[in-house]
Amino acid sequence: MIGRLNHIAIAVPDLAAAAARYRDLLGAEVHHPHALPEHGVTVVFVQLENTKIELMSPLGENSPIAKFLASNPGGGMHHVCFEVADITSAAETLVAGGARILGDGKPKLGAHGLPVLFLHPKDFDGTLIELEEVKPDLQPA
Ligand code: CO
Repeated sequence: MIGRLNHIAIAVPDLAAAAARYRDLLGAEVHHPHALPEHGVTVVFVQLENTKIELMSPLGENSPIAKFLASNPGGGMHHVCFEVADITSAAETLVAGGARILGDGKPKLGAHGLPVLFLHPKDFDGTLIELEEVKPDLQPA
């Protein structure tokens, strides 16, 4: 069911400092900060050869990562995102298999404007998993 690793998201307390470390110390291709007020985060994409790292910091009130950073003040890995071709059928299969989908269970438009949903970390070894619907013909070669 799951396809490529789309990204790994890391919550960081200082976005500019984290971006600088990836650019200057790790020598990665680091994009400009991108504010996503509807998602309560500002993100910096780090483009790797085979996937992306998304550095995220809280934006505005009620950021979904505020609590995470309160318990992990130095930052930490927040979620991994796998691509699926059909998110509705993936959700059905997962629920039938006993996995829990966060929220109302319905896909929402994610940070890339594509349908996403999140799976309960307690059902996946303590890891928050995001599924993103990526049509095969939209995937980069
Ligand atoms: Co994500």
